[in-house]
Amino acid sequence: MSKANNSKIKFYSGENIPLELHKVRIVQKLNLVPIERRLEALKEGGFNTFRLSTKDVFLDMLTDSGTNAMSDMQLSAMMHADDAYAGSQSFARLQQASEDVLKKKYLLPVHQGRAAENILSRAYIKKGDLIPMNYHFTTALAHITENGGRIVELLYEEAYNINSSHPFKGNINVEKLEETIKETGVENIPFIRMEASTNLIGGQPFSVQNMRAVRNIANKYGIRLVLDASLLGENAYLVIQREEEFQNATMAEVIGIMTGLADIVYFSARKLSSSRGGGICTDDLKIYRELEALVPLFEGFLTYGGISVREIEAMAVGLYETLDESMICQSPQFIEYLVNTLVSAGVSMVTPAGVLGAHVNAMEVCKHIPQTQYPAGALAAAFYLISGIRGMERGSVSNQRDEDGNETYADMELLRLAVPRRVFTLSQIMYVLDRLTWLNDNRKLIGGLKFVYEPSVLRFFMGRLAPVSDWPEKLMAKFREDFGDSL
Ligand code: F0G
Repeated sequence: MSKANNSKIKFYSGENIPLELHKVRIVQKLNLVPIERRLEALKEGGFNTFRLSTKDVFLDMLTDSGTNAMSDMQLSAMMHADDAYAGSQSFARLQQASEDVLKKKYLLPVHQGRAAENILSRAYIKKGDLIPMNYHFTTALAHITENGGRIVELLYEEAYNINSSHPFKGNINVEKLEETIKETGVENIPFIRMEASTNLIGGQPFSVQNMRAVRNIANKYGIRLVLDASLLGENAYLVIQREEEFQNATMAEVIGIMTGLADIVYFSARKLSSSRGGGICTDDLKIYRELEALVPLFEGFLTYGGISVREIEAMAVGLYETLDESMICQSPQFIEYLVNTLVSAGVSMVTPAGVLGAHVNAMEVCKHIPQTQYPAGALAAAFYLISGIRGMERGSVSNQRDEDGNETYADMELLRLAVPRRVFTLSQIMYVLDRLTWLNDNRKLIGGLKFVYEPSVLRFFMGRLAPVSDWPEKLMAKFREDFGDSL
């Protein structure tokens, strides 16, 4: 299915080793504190990896959001930023980059991806509206429901199959989409949302062919198509790897085709462009006008949108660098290496390897823990304890309660190990493999968690949990038994 790792460089040994196509020029020291300290840190942080301090974290695999390594070109561009409230030349450069790369004439800057979701939801959603999508992202869902809307997720069955070889598990089910539109009525569907590389089901891409089919339906019924392009670079890379029609295409061509199929493109620049900020783009002046007034209200003036001008410069360069396949391939190749090696070691992983991170199937690894005790949250805490590596729970803790306050259990219980762009070395990836394999072999020692403090909105960020027994102490004792005085 997918072409070989780093397809143009073959090793004499025949091994598929993801070779870095960059060199390290600035470094930052990391701490690896002993397991006893890690247990204290977990207790202080309510067994929630969001609440850990980086002084207690060795490899930070929480997210790829705002944690990517910038290029020398990005850093140097930051030095000639034009600090002006209105009419900044930095914004002019960003607008040009957005036009060149995303092929849309108009750009509204926003401080990050969820700010774009806020603006789109406020502008277009009325009470009772339905937003069909391939799959939700936490912040997108929160803004839609905050504005009185509902969502429906329209994936094909295969997307829910954790162990799959389907190349495009992020595809929208087009038959169901059409049925949904007929049942709900066009007047109650302000837009269809397609998320490039569906984050919460393992960073799984959709194909251009699927997006074309969705576009045809959107045209037929006159509904806007909104593309969440936060992970578009990697989705386009996997299209080149996996979709026959595009095997000889360039990143620029695939990205241009995908954004060209959408009426509105929005993104988190913390991912796309490896900087910090966000944007909403369109070619339609009417749409631009509908959204324009909300930017100064919530973000900042139209030529900075709450983003520092230095970051705007880095964003502009980062957008151009998204077109460089040898740059974009690094994270997906490391992820593929992690996933394939772990699968060979018997660890249940989401397959095929997607983007953003490697996703461990906690429903299988912790199948002795009921969903009511958050197996993915427990696995995230246990993995931090025995390795100092911070991953993120992407399961029921990350779900929000329904309107009646009932728990809604996630379709998948995942531990996400993010691989930020160009940050880790291969020996660090080997450490991840080693510790995760050990934990999988000792998985019976992991126990459940319960909430002790549960915020009502986006509870996974600041919630506090506690273990249901003394399992962390027992796991720590087994680690000491097997690793002696090793960190
Ligand atoms: N859409 C997608 C697909 C995302 O992955 C994210 C963020 C957002 C929107 C929101 O963007 O954070 O800039 O406000 N994902 C991060 C993550 C937080 O860790 O997966 P934001």
